[in-house]
Amino acid sequence: MKEYPVFNAILNRRSIRNYTDEQIKDEEINQILEAGRWAPSAKNLQPWRFIIMKDAQRIEDLCQFTKYANILRKSKVNILIFLDKNFQGDRIKSIQSIGACIQNILLAAHELEIGTCWIGEIVNRHEKVEKFLNLPGNLELMALITLGKMPQEKKESRRIPLEELIIKG
Ligand SMILES: Cc1cc2nc3c(=O)[nH]c(=O)nc-3n(C[C@H](O)[C@H](O)[C@H](O)COP(=O)(O)O)c2cc1C
Repeated sequence: MKEYPVFNAILNRRSIRNYTDEQIKDEEINQILEAGRWAPSAKNLQPWRFIIMKDAQRIEDLCQFTKYANILRKSKVNILIFLDKNFQGDRIKSIQSIGACIQNILLAAHELEIGTCWIGEIVNRHEKVEKFLNLPGNLELMALITLGKMPQEKKESRRIPLEELIIKG
């Protein structure tokens, strides 16, 4: 029978907010970022930039900027995703491109049995984070992704039924 690995990953990926103590290997982080790098982007501008945080103290330092600090604390690696405004065309399309990059990251991690959670809430304090990290003005925080090995428990989620999503034209 034909297998559909991408479709399976899309259906089975869940936001994971609890992680085991197992470390994530550098090769795994590279593979995950490679998937992000190959996302489509408007005019192929590839406006995404990444900061990888593996050090528990550095992750702890970021906790002050989000109410989801408990998720950060349990995770082993954080990937911060930035929009490089020097590589920005139309802003909406640049941000959509970043979304495609993040989704690739989540799916690639899922395939490696690494759980992720997309922390968008930290963006509410993006200027403070950028200042704290001493970043140049062209980098705007778009999201933080927590990563860690998945515990065995099954995660549920729900979606709006397809027939409610299709608008009759
Ligand atoms: C743009 C965006 C921002 C999000 N921000 C947060 C967040 O700040 N904290 C959090 O726990 N989950 C966050 N999530 C994860 C969503 O809550 C989650 O994807 C949704 O509830 C569906 O669950 P699932 O990913 O397990 O299918 C975010 C997701 C997206 C796409």
